[in-house]
Amino acid sequence: MDLILRNANVWKYKGLTDIGIENGKFKKIKKEISEKGEEEIDLKGKLVTPPLVEIHVHMDAVLTVGEPRFNMTGTLLEGIEIWSERKKKLTREDVKERVIEAVKWQLANGVTRIRTHVDVCDPSFTALKAILEVKKEFDGLVEIQTVAFPQEGIYSYPDGDELVRKAMEEGADVVGGIPHYEWTREDGVRDVIFAVELGKELNKLIDLHIDETDDEHSRFVEVLAAETIKNKYFGKVTASHTTAMHSYNNAYAFKLLGWIKRARLNMVTNPLDNSILQGRFDTYPKRRGHTRVKEMDSMGINVCIADDSIMDPWYPLGVGDPLQAAFVFVHYGQMSGYNEMMSLFDMITENPAKTFGCGDKYGIKEGNPADLVVYNAPTEIDALRTVAPRLYVVKDGKIVVESKPTERTIYIDGKKESVEFIK
Ligand code: FE2
Repeated sequence: MDLILRNANVWKYKGLTDIGIENGKFKKIKKEISEKGEEEIDLKGKLVTPPLVEIHVHMDAVLTVGEPRFNMTGTLLEGIEIWSERKKKLTREDVKERVIEAVKWQLANGVTRIRTHVDVCDPSFTALKAILEVKKEFDGLVEIQTVAFPQEGIYSYPDGDELVRKAMEEGADVVGGIPHYEWTREDGVRDVIFAVELGKELNKLIDLHIDETDDEHSRFVEVLAAETIKNKYFGKVTASHTTAMHSYNNAYAFKLLGWIKRARLNMVTNPLDNSILQGRFDTYPKRRGHTRVKEMDSMGINVCIADDSIMDPWYPLGVGDPLQAAFVFVHYGQMSGYNEMMSLFDMITENPAKTFGCGDKYGIKEGNPADLVVYNAPTEIDALRTVAPRLYVVKDGKIVVESKPTERTIYIDGKKESVEFIK
């Protein structure tokens, strides 16, 4: 065998396991592989999961924080103002340089699939064309999906509908929308109908920014669920952000959850951005701006966690790591129950893989492409607690990321000790 990883704590497997890889595929996964590998690594009980999937990020804006100025209020509105200034200076080279850097960060964190929304309210499609070039450059290493995202509206921006259609012709993979941002409720409904019809016509996936507001009257997810059901487009449609669901009355929310399940919508929550952007018009108490993750997860709805931003006008921090977003969501979504913490790993791996359309070739099992991530932590909880660095990322059987654990030494009464933050 080409590579054998020994003594791995493989996510969802019981006990330490050896992983044998040959010709880019998982050849054998069992307690003890007797044959020798060309290369062998003893993982000494470290956690191994399938690769992470970044299912919602805005790569066109990454690494622009502070350009032309920092967001002083930290609000969505000031972020939009700053972005509209920065956007005027976008060039192909500028976008490519930033996106390539951010993709490398994501890969180093174990992300091998990225769905990026790209603002297409730009008749020249500067950002889209640049990101499509980056997509080609990373082919075979990181798979990038682009969403034709009408940041300024399909009906509130001149020829917004035509721009989304043209962006799809240009090579975007997924149809986007932003109904809550349209000028009127009626235009918001048209926005959803347009996106579902276009997605169906082109046989493409659909992913809308939807109800990303604290306004409890923003109720476009119900339209999206209804249109998905009417068009029988089950499983191909994603609702991103949906923060207004936090503010709905329970009677309405539970009715809506039933429609979401029936439509098999994929749901994406973005704890990094929405924890700082929502509740800004509240005095006290201040609302949490996240969707109803626990309830949806317990109903079997496919829920995903994503980053949304990496150092942009809306969110100044971030390193392109879905595990970091999951860590934040432990606190923000009160997901600290044991099973809840374990379910967060589903929300950054298998669930977004399903949303992405990976099919059954995703996951650690014999015969599948040998893609995996090794964490510098023995368990899921330790990985989450320490937002553990990724020691290795393996893609198609090849090690594509390797990192060295940090060594920390403390001196007590002149005696040297090392500290690892592991019990
Ligand atoms: Fe977003």
